[in-house]
Amino acid sequence: MKAIAVEPGADGPVVIDVERPTPGPGAALVRTLRVGVDGTDGEVIAGHHGGYPADSNHLILGHEAVGVVEEPGDTRFSIGDVVAPTVRRPPGASNEYFERGEPDMAPSGAYYERGIEGAHGYMSEYFTSPGEYLVSVPSSLADLGFLVEPLSITEKALELAYASRSSFDWTAESAVVLGNGSLGLLTLAYLREKHNYDRLYCLGRRDRPDPTIDIIEELGATYIDSRETPVAEIPAVHEPMDLVFEATGYAKHAFETVAALAPNGVGALLGVPEPWEFDVDGGRLHRELVLHNKALVGSVNSNVRHFEAAVAALNKFPAWLFEDLVTGVYDVSQFEAAFDDDDTTIKTAVQFSEYEER
Ligand code: NAP
Ligand code: BGC
Ligand code: ZN
Repeated sequence: MKAIAVEPGADGPVVIDVERPTPGPGAALVRTLRVGVDGTDGEVIAGHHGGYPADSNHLILGHEAVGVVEEPGDTRFSIGDVVAPTVRRPPGASNEYFERGEPDMAPSGAYYERGIEGAHGYMSEYFTSPGEYLVSVPSSLADLGFLVEPLSITEKALELAYASRSSFDWTAESAVVLGNGSLGLLTLAYLREKHNYDRLYCLGRRDRPDPTIDIIEELGATYIDSRETPVAEIPAVHEPMDLVFEATGYAKHAFETVAALAPNGVGALLGVPEPWEFDVDGGRLHRELVLHNKALVGSVNSNVRHFEAAVAALNKFPAWLFEDLVTGVYDVSQFEAAFDDDDTTIKTAVQFSEYEER
């Protein structure tokens, strides 16, 4: 079967032929429908993040998948069920994080990430997965189920952020999403559809006209251009923010977030930057966090519960949003286009097969 992989020495991803996998006990064979592409794939392709499986000279890409169960084996699924797989797997024997259903909280070394770190991903015509890592997706979302994984990332980060504010009466009215990439825009939509913010903002660095700014405004949010208003100046130009959701991967934003927060506010950090040394006024940062009860939480990955919440949320997103956000779905023969990263590209996916209602 065909798979899309990174190999040593290649300029970008390539199509390779690999054997169709055979599911072991407790696992299902899934026919892949679509697999989404995000900023992390770019980082993996560039060699900045992740790594090959130990026994392989390539890595099959893809961690945002939706597919149809073809051989359920002894899992709870039936032939034809639409499913989205979670990303993390135990490296060899299971461990306490996986046993608790919290692989997203596992430290480095205690997990592989399919399509990212140490395990092949889902960009192939078929994949196998233990049933416990497959989440049911309604057939009405078969075409959009590749958005479940990225939205689950948002769900998990917001859960951690809100938990840090749960010991007092916190009413969040203003939020800014830093980043107008696919994670940023999905999060903005999530904050609009699921959470009750009076005022939403989204930060980018683009000139108008731009399709991401159109989506931001269509969602009733205010666009902030970081070239005119640096993150730390957002309170002076707009207002202090109860929630900051960083999805730029721009390391200075992690620290500037503290200045952008209102007293008692929380910043969720999602970006995965390369090492970058710069000066920070540590005293000011420390003082600001303490004297104003501010919190910063880092968040990575997500678990089955977050996937389930993401499925429920996706069901409520308006149709126009999907049409504007998903700028391209490409067959394997045109897969390169799914990895193009220009200002007209927002969210793309590679399609391995079409969903047919049974
Ligand atoms: P992406 O498509 O690369 O989006 C990043 C966006 O941030 C881009 O639109 C970029 O604008 C914008 N940006 C970067 N620097 C900026 C600046 N200085 N000012 C204003 N805007 C800026 O990536 P993504 O898929 O949305 O993911 C966002 C980040 O989250 C990445 O670092 C990714 O690795 C990380 N991530 C983390 C997790 C997790 O579990 N923690 C999960 C998914 C993704 P331009 O397009 O105009 O350059
Ligand atoms: C994926 C997560 C993963 C993270 C770090 C993200 O793009 O969506 O599942 O944990 O990258 O590798
Ligand atoms: Zn991702």
